Amino acid sequence: MGAQVHGVQKFDKEKRQAIQFSEKAMEEIKEIISHYPDGKQKSAVIPVLHIAQAENNGWLSAEVMDKVAELLKIKSIEVFEVASFYSMFNLKPVGKCVLEVCRTSSCWLCGAEDVVRHIEKKLGIKDGETTKDGMFTLKTVECLGSCGTAPMLQCGASYHENLTIEKVDALIDKYRSEGRSRFYTDKDYQNTL
Ligand code: FES
Repeated sequence: MGAQVHGVQKFDKEKRQAIQFSEKAMEEIKEIISHYPDGKQKSAVIPVLHIAQAENNGWLSAEVMDKVAELLKIKSIEVFEVASFYSMFNLKPVGKCVLEVCRTSSCWLCGAEDVVRHIEKKLGIKDGETTKDGMFTLKTVECLGSCGTAPMLQCGASYHENLTIEKVDALIDKYRSEGRSRFYTDKDYQNTL
């Protein structure tokens, strides 16, 4: 995979150089980097990746990861290692709303599988796929630290807990009617118990 990233860097150099984050994003990135001493900018990689992902429609292309590496003055592979480790980062295009359903023990015992099957049927997609209209991506993930309110899913900055099939239906309808993208960097965190 590293070789693949390296290859993309080599062949898409122009594309990489063309990556520009918004002024607001750059201000936030500079602010985050300023929290760390010189030479330790690498520590800012996760929050910077969140901003970069939101700037790129919810996913991290090789060129975007290269841009992050350039801003943090680290190697591209170091960025890729982090981005490919955490499920919160997407390495391929996703829908406007990524429904991350926890599939670990508590959630599994409390019906996560039913939730996943229901979403698959309702949206006509499988785990990891995106609806044709680009609105939803379904993703199963490991524990999101909300085991006491299982089953749950995360979408952008919001947690949706104690899920039932009815709650999932209402959530999908709400997101569809709003039609907007949802990111980890959103400020509208909701905890809908
Ligand atoms: S097991 Fe699902 S949040 Fe922990």
